[in-house]
Amino acid sequence: MCGIVGYLGFRKAYPIVINGLQRLEYRGYDSAGVILTDGNQVNLYKTKGKVSDLKEVVSENSIEGNLGLGHTRWATHGIPNDENSHPHVSNSGKLVIVHNGIIENYNTLKKELIARDYTFKSDTDTEVLINLIEEVQKRNNCNLEKAVQLALTNAVGAYAIAVFDVSKPEEIIVARLGSPIAIGIGANNEEFFVASDASPFIEYTKDAVYLDDEELAIIKIGEDIRVRKIQDNSEVEPNIQELKLNLEQIEKGGYDHFMLKEIHEQPNAILDTYRGRLLANQGIIKMGSVDNNIAKFLNANRIIIVACGTSWHAGLVAEYLFEDLARIPVEVEYASEFRYRNPVINKGDVVIAISQSGETADTLAAIKLAKSQGAFVFGVCNVVGSSIARETDTGAYTHAGPEIGVASTKAFTTQITVLALIALKLGNLKGELSNSQYHAYIQEMSLIPSKVEETLKINDIVENIAAIYKDAPNCLYLGRGYNFPVALEGALKLKEISYIHAEGYPAAEMKHGPIALIDESMPVVVIATKKGHYDKVVSNIQEIKSRKGKIIAVVTKGDTIVKDIADHTIEVPETVEAFTPLLTTIPLQLLSYHIAVMRNCNVDQPRNLAKSVTVE
Ligand code: M6R
Repeated sequence: MCGIVGYLGFRKAYPIVINGLQRLEYRGYDSAGVILTDGNQVNLYKTKGKVSDLKEVVSENSIEGNLGLGHTRWATHGIPNDENSHPHVSNSGKLVIVHNGIIENYNTLKKELIARDYTFKSDTDTEVLINLIEEVQKRNNCNLEKAVQLALTNAVGAYAIAVFDVSKPEEIIVARLGSPIAIGIGANNEEFFVASDASPFIEYTKDAVYLDDEELAIIKIGEDIRVRKIQDNSEVEPNIQELKLNLEQIEKGGYDHFMLKEIHEQPNAILDTYRGRLLANQGIIKMGSVDNNIAKFLNANRIIIVACGTSWHAGLVAEYLFEDLARIPVEVEYASEFRYRNPVINKGDVVIAISQSGETADTLAAIKLAKSQGAFVFGVCNVVGSSIARETDTGAYTHAGPEIGVASTKAFTTQITVLALIALKLGNLKGELSNSQYHAYIQEMSLIPSKVEETLKINDIVENIAAIYKDAPNCLYLGRGYNFPVALEGALKLKEISYIHAEGYPAAEMKHGPIALIDESMPVVVIATKKGHYDKVVSNIQEIKSRKGKIIAVVTKGDTIVKDIADHTIEVPETVEAFTPLLTTIPLQLLSYHIAVMRNCNVDQPRNLAKSVTVE
């Protein structure tokens, strides 16, 4: 959580920092701040609220300076107010910091600093850290680089930080443990950029270094970037990568919201996910990371999937896929529970970690735990080079492109696509799927992008339904089999962006409790596609109807039975049961989107949330 941007070079820092903060606002948006210096004057602006509020605060004031640091915050320690906003400045006024993460032992450190007469303006752990750095520098009479390194060896927790000394405006020190940080390098080392991801600087440079955990970088105008290990100060050769990201990918491209753009990107995103992997003409699925570890997958006693939120829902779909198509037992775990409940992990277990951002702290910790107990860990991530992508033994990227809306959409469908490819491949190799069945699945998968495209045409129908139910205080989502996780995902989407209470249930569970909620004011979204338990779901719909519930049914194109019973039907094209989640999830994404827009909610940045959850 929290986004960091920094600039040091020959341009004015402010426009780069402020635009960069806007691109990183998905990481947190309850307060923001910026500090600028031209070597003489130092200007610090901070405010509760969004980056747009910060812009207003700055508007009439000086924006001079070629060195700037900015921060957009998701509060952990201390409420979102001006004082708790970053950047934070040390007691002497010399040292400045922006920080993403949590310093867990900040209380102990704070007490020690108070005993040495330090005072604090904010409630944050970050202000403690910058004063610790100041104290270490004073005590050791050392340069800033050394002081940061020594101070960090005393800090417990997670951080990505950028620090500078106002009296030395030609240098920034950057460090990372558990929170991402990228450094962009301009031509001839004449300028440098620092950011939580590369989006703030892609129009300026394609050369970037992603720091690894426990690394510290020293950035100085005109000099090559230097990287050191925090623990022992040893030098590390910086790995300068070429960025593949482009500006178009991180802009709204004519859509009102990133979420809507990302919903509409799904046909191409799914295509990109299986491009080069699903070779429909040859009837094969090629996935290097699976092929290279095929014995581990085929001999696995079970697969354990760890993930959070929407990625956990993709994991639940994968449970059906692996068990149904490859007959491998699967357990799907909330990463946050798995990591703390002393799970039984055996050597032959394959652990699959799913994460869009690749930075989710709980998932990362679950991976570390599984690895420490000898499991082989495979990652399914979207963000290239992310912590989870690096921490796992190997993995497959979803290639969905940047997902900026806080509500996951294309991440979900592309995660399912990757997991379906693996399940199909294993199913065939294990002899559970005959070659002809395998080829039929491959052919059908190659049609999914066009079927998603076709599904998107129901947008107007969904918008009309949204207008009818936008003020409902509650909503139930029901599905069975492969579409039970889709029901959970539909409910999560509605909750998180429109703040309507929603619950997802396996349709048959309704009679064990939730049915008591149904009356004429309760909208019930039911996924009732032709394949898979259709008759049973029809019976469940009848049960709702008898209790006067309002039924919004997602059905297979041409359905007549449910159409006669339901209040509203939304048609999706026919496909094999295993792939139905890739289609049925689309109307649910659109429904939550339109309801949120009609309720004037901030669709892309829902309250209290952040896109990447780097705290536990
Ligand atoms: O980046 P991750 O996939 O690891 O994130 C996990 C959850 O925080 C995430 O899926 C969250 O539930 C979604 N934003 C919901 O739309």
